[in-house]
Amino acid sequence: MINEGVDNSKRQFLTSALTVVGAVGTGFIAVPFLAQMQPSVKAMAAGAPVTVDISKMEPGQLIRVAWRGKPVWILNRTTEVLATLKTLDSQLRDPNSSQSIQPDSSKNPGRSIKPEIFVAVGLCTHLGCSPTFRPEIAPSDLGDNWKGGFFCPCHGSWFDLAGRVFQGVPAPTNLEIPPYRYVNDTQIIIGEQAEGKSA
Ligand code: FES
Repeated sequence: MINEGVDNSKRQFLTSALTVVGAVGTGFIAVPFLAQMQPSVKAMAAGAPVTVDISKMEPGQLIRVAWRGKPVWILNRTTEVLATLKTLDSQLRDPNSSQSIQPDSSKNPGRSIKPEIFVAVGLCTHLGCSPTFRPEIAPSDLGDNWKGGFFCPCHGSWFDLAGRVFQGVPAPTNLEIPPYRYVNDTQIIIGEQAEGKSA
C-alpha cells in the first residue's frame, strides 16, 4: 500500500511535469509559426505586398506608405478634384496614359480602380525626386494656373492629382501607378494585381 502511494505520487509528478513540458514545447513551436505568418523586414524590402486601411481617410487626405523601398501615396480625392481632372487634358503630355506605367485596372482618365481613391508611386519620373503634395488652388508660389497637384521641386515638374504630367516640364511620363487591389471597401493591398496575383 505504501509503495502504491509512492508510485501514485511519482505518477502524478511525472504527469504534471509532462503537462508543463508539453505546454512549453507547444509555446516554442507556436511562436516561430506565428512569426512565419508575418512578412519579414527582408521580405517587405524585397517586395512583399502591403495592406493599407483606408477606412479613416478624410476627403482630401493623403497618406504615405512604403512598398519595395519606394514611397506610395494614397489620396482620397474630393468630387471637386475629380471634376477638375476632366478639364486638364489639353495641358497634359500623356492625358490617356498611353506612354506611362500603370496596371490595366488603372488605365483610365482618373488612373485608379475607384474614382476617389488614387494610388501612385511618389517618385518623379524625371530623376526620381519625391514631388510635394500641393492640393491648393492657385497658391502664390505656383501661380494662377495651378489647380492642385504634385509639384517636383528638383527641376519643376508638375503633375495633376491623377499623377498626369503637364506639358513643358522635364518629367517625361505620368507618375507610376503600382499594382494594387481592394480586399474590401476599407482595405487595399499594394503589390498585388486586381486579379489577386502577386506583382
Ligand atoms: S526629378 Fe522631378 S523634375 Fe527632375
